Amino acid sequence: MASTLFDKASEAAQFVLARTALRPKIGIVLGSGLGSFASQVEQAAAVPYAEIPHFPQSTVPGHSGRLLIGTISGVSVAVMQGRVHAYEGYSSDEVTFPVRVLGRLGVKTLVLTNAAGGINPAFRQGQLVLISDHINLSGRNPVSGAYDERCGLRFFDMSDAYSARLRALAKDTAEDMDLDLEEGVYVSVLGPSFETPAEIRAFRTMGADLVGMSTVQETIVARQMEIEVLGISCVTNLAAGIQATPLSHEEVLETGRAVEARLAELLTRLIPTLAK
Ligand code: HPA
Repeated sequence: MASTLFDKASEAAQFVLARTALRPKIGIVLGSGLGSFASQVEQAAAVPYAEIPHFPQSTVPGHSGRLLIGTISGVSVAVMQGRVHAYEGYSSDEVTFPVRVLGRLGVKTLVLTNAAGGINPAFRQGQLVLISDHINLSGRNPVSGAYDERCGLRFFDMSDAYSARLRALAKDTAEDMDLDLEEGVYVSVLGPSFETPAEIRAFRTMGADLVGMSTVQETIVARQMEIEVLGISCVTNLAAGIQATPLSHEEVLETGRAVEARLAELLTRLIPTLAK
């Protein structure tokens, strides 16, 4: 019986690897309303999260839960269609378990996508923004607690958490597509209530450009495993107090649907570059 997180992740990875001959080095997590890229994955083995040992399952509409192992332009990828969030009641260990499994599958590059509120007044609804850095206001850190040296260092650097190298590649790709791809700092909150206008003003003063309820925990675990991370936010709405209308989950999903084809194209073009 697997007992530690490391052993559980290894067991889950073994289960997934038994379903496919592919050995993906690139992992992709698709955020709220951003799942359409999954249809571009060729010859995919689709493994429902429910079947993978120890894997958490999402309870939120718009987050279907399956892991696809397939290819994009001949490059093997592991695509998580849906993720779980701390606001659903999951612990940091559960939220980040899939990243541990991707690491145990052999993934070296992780693309994390999400829906976010735009704090930077220059951002527009529907824009894609590269995450340049984060501020963890979730109150949690997934690598706290009992230390297992097989997971990586206990104290590790976070100064290039969102790889400058990968961001440069993404910008080159976006330029080829005539896609405007700005950068911004992502602040993570627990949620699920949206923020108050006062909180958004405070976050702006702190230096945040984007706000969301995911990604940061995953990035921390990925960095402990020395996986290179690229973060892409879809500005599904302007943050509280910036847009005139009340925020809603429907709006988040609706904007996601309007943008997901563009995100899918960016990812499809980018992946062969990341594989080099
Ligand atoms: N706040 C937090 N999380 C979000 C938002 C927001 O405005 N939009 C999408 N995810």
